[in-house]
Amino acid sequence: MRAQHLAAALALVLLACGAAGEDILIKGGTVVNADRQFQADVLIRGGLIARVGPNLQAERQGTRTLSAAGRLVMPGGIDPHTHLSMPFMGQVTCDDFFSGHAAALAGGTTMHVDFALPVDHDLLAGWDAWQRKAADGVMDYGFHMAVTSWSDKVAADMGTLTKMGVNSFKFFMAYKGALMVNDEQLLQALRRCKELGAVPQVHAENGDAVAEGQARVFAAGITGPEGHALSRPAALEGEATARAIRLAQFVGAPLYVVHVMSRDAAEEVARARQRGQRVVGETVASAIACDESSMWDADFTRAAAFVMSPPIRSKEHQAALQGALAGGLLQLVGTDHAVFNSSQKAAGRHDFRIIPNGVNGLEERLHVVWTELVASGKLAPTDFVRVTSTAAAHIFNVYPRKGLIAKGSDADVIIFDPALEHTLRAAAHHSALDTNIYEGYKARGKVLTTISRGRLVWHEGRLNITRGSGRFVPTPTHGPLYAGLDAVPEHSLFDVARYGGVPVRRAGDAPASG
Ligand code: URP
Ligand code: ZN
Ligand code: ZN
Ligand code: ZN
Repeated sequence: MRAQHLAAALALVLLACGAAGEDILIKGGTVVNADRQFQADVLIRGGLIARVGPNLQAERQGTRTLSAAGRLVMPGGIDPHTHLSMPFMGQVTCDDFFSGHAAALAGGTTMHVDFALPVDHDLLAGWDAWQRKAADGVMDYGFHMAVTSWSDKVAADMGTLTKMGVNSFKFFMAYKGALMVNDEQLLQALRRCKELGAVPQVHAENGDAVAEGQARVFAAGITGPEGHALSRPAALEGEATARAIRLAQFVGAPLYVVHVMSRDAAEEVARARQRGQRVVGETVASAIACDESSMWDADFTRAAAFVMSPPIRSKEHQAALQGALAGGLLQLVGTDHAVFNSSQKAAGRHDFRIIPNGVNGLEERLHVVWTELVASGKLAPTDFVRVTSTAAAHIFNVYPRKGLIAKGSDADVIIFDPALEHTLRAAAHHSALDTNIYEGYKARGKVLTTISRGRLVWHEGRLNITRGSGRFVPTPTHGPLYAGLDAVPEHSLFDVARYGGVPVRRAGDAPASG
């Protein structure tokens, strides 16, 4: 957040006193949920949605009435993939839980799930560290936990974390020598997730091949950000995606593939779903709106801003990912918001391998998804709600509390003007980042108002937030990805008990006569 925004936010904190307690009545809008859209007013009280229906009237003195005529009233966005205050590649992402949340709210996102990293491979120490970081937050958040090693203690700690409200664990198949796990570790972890009813997530790239590709590209004298794109092609993402999917099938676990960046990976997800496997594919805003040519920009700062992994790819991949969302082959859009200032990215000025990986998007995601997919006619507004909010609420098992405008749900609501056009710029954003991969992007449709748990936090271009007002949202295990799965026998690929209906011999069986 820039200084002038910070000052404005602090000034507004004074105005915010008592705001959480006031009723808010949204009049005359079109409510859009993932299943349908309809004309209705929305009454908010005590942080919850109290009523949804025609011709609602204020029921209490001091009710704040907001007109939504000609506008859409939608569930706040849920970003399933962020990295706030994350130590990574020798740097720490420059958005913390305050500036990151400010950015999110200004862009209509009211909940995110951040990736906590273990501290020295210790999951519980990682949990403590992330809870401390999040104490500065101003909106709802959940945690995934990364698993970067394997031991009995890690397995036990995963169980402990599920009791504390973590229902998802991420495994990196890349970042060799740092976060990467091997197939043996991944298999054990997938099995443990299945035992716990937790969602296993993979960063799918072949880390060994990436390391080799990086060495080869660098040895060829390519040191700039374009070397990042060249050194880790889509085939390596497709390979790892297929491998993770097959290992999950072997174990009988569902699988969530994070940041699907290529046609290759999207096709593997689609094929798995077609065979009846429970696989979820998440793509990210940068993958559907940007292309790799930016990494060839002559300006290092501009080019390095686009460096993330797996890489942003060609326009053909971008179109394929948009098509996969439109066709229901991929299920949701996150951001992988992991931001490093230009001074931090400059660490890799002479070697693309040490440019800290990550791009922005937490503030821009809803605008980018609307512009790319709804304004272009590929997705209906209801589908927009599904891919930006409801799908994440389902998968991480917080639906219908989140991801829905209905009586009793949390009052996380946005008012969206589909007709308003605006331009995205670093100078106007609320992230602490000094660049923006969407610099100059012409967005169609704009979030006018964000309500977070009944508080009017973004309205008329101003933030109204209170440091420390954020809240951890526990995500319970055994969500929809597991519903009915217990009835399916494990090791369906490895059915040793039968061969063509004939029982097999086992050690200890009586020897066959004759
Ligand atoms: O480049 C990226 N994606 N940075 C964040 C870490 C990760 O792999 O998600
Ligand atoms: Zn990743
Ligand atoms: Zn990530
Ligand atoms: Zn700002």
